Parts: sequence; structure tokens; C-alpha cells
Amino acid sequence: MAGFLEQIEPLKEAALAEMSAATDLAALEQARVGYLGVHGKFTALMKQLGALSKDEKPAAGKAMNTAKTQLEAALTERRAELERQAALPKVPTDFTLPGRRRSLGKLHPLTQVTEDIVRSFRKIGFAVADGPEVEDDYHCFDALNTPADHPARDTQDTFYLAATGIAQGASPAPILLRTHTSSVQIRVMERQRPPVRIIVPGRVYRRDNADATHNPTFQQVEGLYVDRKVTVSDLKGTVEFVFQELMGSETRIRFRPHYFSYTEPSFEIDFSSPLTRKMGKEWLEIAGCGMVHPQVFENVGYDPEEWSGWAFGFGIERIAMIRYSINDIRLFYENDVRFLRQF
Ligand code: DAH
Repeated sequence: MAGFLEQIEPLKEAALAEMSAATDLAALEQARVGYLGVHGKFTALMKQLGALSKDEKPAAGKAMNTAKTQLEAALTERRAELERQAALPKVPTDFTLPGRRRSLGKLHPLTQVTEDIVRSFRKIGFAVADGPEVEDDYHCFDALNTPADHPARDTQDTFYLAATGIAQGASPAPILLRTHTSSVQIRVMERQRPPVRIIVPGRVYRRDNADATHNPTFQQVEGLYVDRKVTVSDLKGTVEFVFQELMGSETRIRFRPHYFSYTEPSFEIDFSSPLTRKMGKEWLEIAGCGMVHPQVFENVGYDPEEWSGWAFGFGIERIAMIRYSINDIRLFYENDVRFLRQF
């Protein structure tokens, strides 16, 4: 077929021109379809190859292939260029503008207080222990020598769950949201031989109506120390050290006799500091404590003749409220940033 070879070059040039004239990817695609697509001009010429004579075919085929390779290379290159352009910002960056500062988050005040408490106890060799918030009544009450008729076990005071669990591998036991972190004393002693030196920060649950000083969920710190020949003065010295760290060196503490079923003797701890005076009180009740009851040791398989210990528990919110002069516990849970930002 006469003139076949002559058609290749002008067609290729036209295609190349159209590709480099394309200013966006859509225009480039249009150019590709127009030449190399199924109904494209270049494709049409390709189809005519078959009609050529035996002598003409090899040279024509070779020329077509060379042109096609060139077109495809040009297409790839132009596409990459247009993609690069499309990725650039529409408005050029002005590097002289001031930077945008990201505001840094902070720890919640209750977390800050908890970390301070943990830090103080770490200094005197205590480790942090943990236990389940969904607990069975054996660990929450029975093992702590808390009898079935104790008010804490009343459904009016405690969130029981519909399900039951298998406590102590025996009969199904009622399951509840733990009312105190004291249950973790049992869990730790069950799996560890003495000596024990732990604190347990954690969430606890009680059926209280929320008001300025109560919330159905709050946080406690439990402490447990078990060793040979542990005395009340060990307890007093430890509590005094930690509270002075937390509330200032002028802090004083006093013990008042009290009753807890898992300690004997038991005490309530009051403390006094410039902070309590600021709240109009000389002494504020802050914690419960005592010497671990021999029955509790029996329940976890410790020999009460050999081992002795003390335990305490207090509320973290209470400490935080006194420390920061906060008069409503609910402020801690509302997560209003205007409140949280102050700590
Ligand atoms: N579990 C008690 C409460 O929730 C606090 C407490 C009192 C913990 C005496 C103790 C303790 O370990 O010995 O009010």
C-alpha cells in the first residue's frame, strides 16, 4: 500500500503534540484514547498493516512498533508530570508565616494524684497490683471476713450482676462490681507468699446517688503490707510519710478506733494540714486501716502465727478535692476542659 510509511511520522507527531499540550490528566487521557484507544487513529493505522504486501510488511511493522513505543513512553512521562503538578498545593506555601501551635493535652487531675500516691509508695518499696473490677462476692466480702448480713453486701448498696461466676472452683458465686479495692488484697495473697508490699489504685462502684461528695463510681487506693512482726507503728509511720509527701510536710495524722471486719484492731485516719484549715476544719477523715485480721490470713493460707500485716484504703477523689480545694466531686467526671485545664 503506497504511502503507508509516510503516514506514521505525521500521526506520531500529532499525537505527541496533543499529549504535551494536555494541561491535566483528563485531557491527557482524551489524547491517549484518540490515538491509542480501540478506535484511536494510531490503532486504525495499525489495523491496516495486515493489508500490506509481504515486502512492505516488515519495514512498516517495525516503524509502527517504534512509533508506538515512543508514544507510550511520552504518555507515561507526561502523566507523571501532570500527577506531580496536581499534587502541588494550589496556593504556594508561605514559609514566612508564623507556625501553628498544637495545644498539648494533660493528665486528668485524678490521674495526677494517683501517680503522686504511687510515686510516694514506690520510694518505700511498694509495688502496684491490680485486680478485676467485676468481682465475685467471695473476694469482695467473704474472704475479707465480711459476713453475709453486713450492710455493704446489701443490694441497696452494691451493683450485683445477673450472671454468676465460679469462685474458688466450687459453687457459682454472685458477681458484682467491686465495692472496694480490698478484694485485691485477697487476689494477691492467694497467688503470692509473704512478704507482700503492694498498693492498688483502682475504680470501685457503689449504689450512691451522685451529689457534691458522692458518685456511684470512684477511685480508691488500697495498701497491704505483710511480713514478720509488723506493728501498728509501721502502719502509722508509713501513712504519715505518704500523707506528708502528698499534702505537705506540715501534715499531721491521727488514728481513731473503728471497726472493719478484715482488720483487728481497726482505725480511721484523720489528717490535719493548712489545707484542712483552709476548708474550715482542723481534722478531716481520710482513710480506713488496721492490722490484717487473722481470719483473712487463714482464708488465703498464710499462717497468722507467723505472719502479721496492715492494710488501709482511701478515696483518691477525696484527696484530690482537698488538695485542689474542689467542692464538688462531679467536676472530675464532667470533663469540661475549662475545669481540666487548671491542673
Ligand atoms: N475498704 C474500705 C472502704 O472501702 C477501706 C479500708 C478500710 C480498706 C480498712 C482497708 C482497711 O484495707 O484495712 O471503705
